[in-house]
Amino acid sequence: MYAKFHSIGAYAPSKVLSNKDLEKMVDTSDEWILKRTGISERRIAGDGEVTSDMATIASDIAIDRAGLEKSDIDLVVCATVTPDYFNMPSTACIISDKLGIKNVQAFDISAACSGFVYALSVAKAFIESGMKKHVLIVGAEKFSSIVDYTDRSTCILFGDGAGAAVISVTEDKSEAMIDIHASADGSYADFLVTPAPGTINPVSQRVIDEGLNFVQMKGNETFKLAVKTLTKDVKDILAKNSIDSKDIPHFIPHQANYRIIKAVGDALKMSKEQVVVTVGKYGNTSAASIPMAINDIYESGRLKKGELMLLDTFGGGLTWASALLPFAGETK
Ligand code: COA
Repeated sequence: MYAKFHSIGAYAPSKVLSNKDLEKMVDTSDEWILKRTGISERRIAGDGEVTSDMATIASDIAIDRAGLEKSDIDLVVCATVTPDYFNMPSTACIISDKLGIKNVQAFDISAACSGFVYALSVAKAFIESGMKKHVLIVGAEKFSSIVDYTDRSTCILFGDGAGAAVISVTEDKSEAMIDIHASADGSYADFLVTPAPGTINPVSQRVIDEGLNFVQMKGNETFKLAVKTLTKDVKDILAKNSIDSKDIPHFIPHQANYRIIKAVGDALKMSKEQVVVTVGKYGNTSAASIPMAINDIYESGRLKKGELMLLDTFGGGLTWASALLPFAGETK
């Protein structure tokens, strides 16, 4: 039994928050943001539009593109750090209900920006063990709900969106996912943290007064560690599988900052054509960033059936993960 990457879908809300808009909100400039991050604009969920709404649209597309019925899905995994509810129920349960998928196992994964690749590893394990046949994995975030739009060091970076994929069983080894590495180091927990709500800081007036419900980031330290970890991670997975970076048509790194993407791409001697970049138009959408990027190259016709994808991601936790796999869906 092997697991194959069967289909992709994504959703980006229509509301655009541009660098020029941010100039009116905090002390920043379009020039500074573009130069330091490569981001021009990001999408923001509409009024009343929540994480599960975006996830459901992306999932519907992915299931349709896999040529499956909703009833074929036997596991729903949602990676998010901006769930509909912070305690319960899980966003995966809400997504299943909105899709009309009944009586399936459904749960969330919290691995911040690494969430989608973590979910991919869960789907692979469930399928290869023979427990499930068609797993819906979703990366969805409404980061605008935890961003402080008076903090110029974070509000310029993040956006909202969702991406989803169906991972299916196959007996054909040529379609199979090749390898996934996923790891974490909690000693860097304070690099990227949303201090509340949680058992350390339950909801209180102090939480509101001190803005502890907003994401906090050690930007510069995170930047340096991201470049180092992402580079080592991809070099390791390529070496372990005896694949040369020049033989990867699609390197799809987490979309956090163009400078990070460029540094890792250069370290791997990747050409511009090999490296997928969507951060300019979506910003950092955390767990949604990689599936939204895969969807972009799928919809533009760049991603063809059988072509190798190398995924690489890094996020709060700290967590990181990489994956090497062919696209096993039909070419658009
Ligand atoms: N506009 C203008 N100036 C800003 C600014 C903004 N939006 N944000 C910060 N600055 C200022 C700082 O106050 C600082 O000023 P000072 O020198 O007078 O103290 C200066 O710019 C440099 O700040 P620094 O944080 O060192 O900049 P940087 O080059 O590291 O860029 C980030 C900041 C956030 C863009 C960058 O650190 C980054 O992208 N980090 C990684 C973030 C990330 O990937 N997070 C998610 C991981 S999944």
